[in-house]
Amino acid sequence: MIPITRLALGEAEAAAAASVVHSGWLMNGPRTAEFERLVAEYVGAEHAVAVSSCTTGLHLALLAAGVGPGDEVICPSFSFIATANAIRYCGAVPVFVDIDPRTYNIDPELVEAAITARTRAVLPVSQIGLPADIPAVKAVAARHGLQVVEDAAPSLGATVHGRRLGSLADLTCFSFDARKILTTGEGGMVTTDDARAAERIRLLRAHSASVSTADRDRAQRVVLETYPEVGFNHKITDIQSAIGVVQMGRVDEIVAERERLGRRYDELLAGQDGVETPYVPEGFTHVYQSYNVRLRTERTQEELMVAMLELGVATRRIFAIHTQPAYADLPSVRLPHTDEAAARTVLLPMFFGLTDDEQDQVVTALEKCL
Ligand SMILES: Cc1ncc(COP(=O)(O)O)c(C=O)c1O
Repeated sequence: MIPITRLALGEAEAAAAASVVHSGWLMNGPRTAEFERLVAEYVGAEHAVAVSSCTTGLHLALLAAGVGPGDEVICPSFSFIATANAIRYCGAVPVFVDIDPRTYNIDPELVEAAITARTRAVLPVSQIGLPADIPAVKAVAARHGLQVVEDAAPSLGATVHGRRLGSLADLTCFSFDARKILTTGEGGMVTTDDARAAERIRLLRAHSASVSTADRDRAQRVVLETYPEVGFNHKITDIQSAIGVVQMGRVDEIVAERERLGRRYDELLAGQDGVETPYVPEGFTHVYQSYNVRLRTERTQEELMVAMLELGVATRRIFAIHTQPAYADLPSVRLPHTDEAAARTVLLPMFFGLTDDEQDQVVTALEKCL
């Protein structure tokens, strides 16, 4: 069976986690500070704040961007459910706009038309490893005084005109779940150049306590903290961060290998009329968290996924959030490119450690199933 992903964690990650277990301090502490510094440096942002997941990072980033009850936030529907859920956690309303059918990312030209007096932020998603056109989205947002909070959950390491995601939007959120570029099991990071937003996220992730647990523990006197507002427990642990620090030491190798595997899929599928391979715009790089193909055959997406599984190859698909029951209360929207992509695209196995032999087997299976 070729899985959709396989973890690439080794002895170094295990030793780093064990050393935290033995250290006497498990909560967010020195390893988290180190993980934050490494990610900030890597993406080219002034600040990075580690959180328990990308979902909780999006929640806090939206709050830091001033999103509150009744506000509207513009986002794509072709994404994971967490994108829209984070908007809902703030009491705000997701306003779905369509994607560019070539990149599967939000179409910046449609963003402007969706802006109303209630719009507070734009939330583009850099989906499956390919950056959304953040500079174009930012230009529209700037004309209307809106913040851009990017969901770059799957896209650590991807670039637009030489700049890494994490340094482009006002706030960018990454995921370190098991299927992402790097993993800490669960985990997330918000990056920003805005010192006030970073500080607010640091407070909100830890119950808005005026003094952190670590600072109270270090103090040689009694420190009584206060809680000026209702915060959250969205902290990461030092066990996860220690794994993240080791993974950050391998990030260039991991990204380069994913890029190689992506190019190799492109080459293997070049002559295959039954699928359309990913499109990467000029000046953008794709880190292939997933490898997405659009079906050009009579077979339905589900038929193909079942047939692939019968041949021992796992696949996945991305759905449209606006079609999910949890979002049935929103006014209906017409998103033809989103609907088409959700119905006609399939994700193939893609992970650091996928061998050329396994990749050949995936392509052979796909050719049989088409
Ligand atoms: C586009 C997107 N946004 C958000 C998330 C949520 O990330 P996490 O599991 O770290 O909360 C994911 C994870 O699959 C994702 O793919």
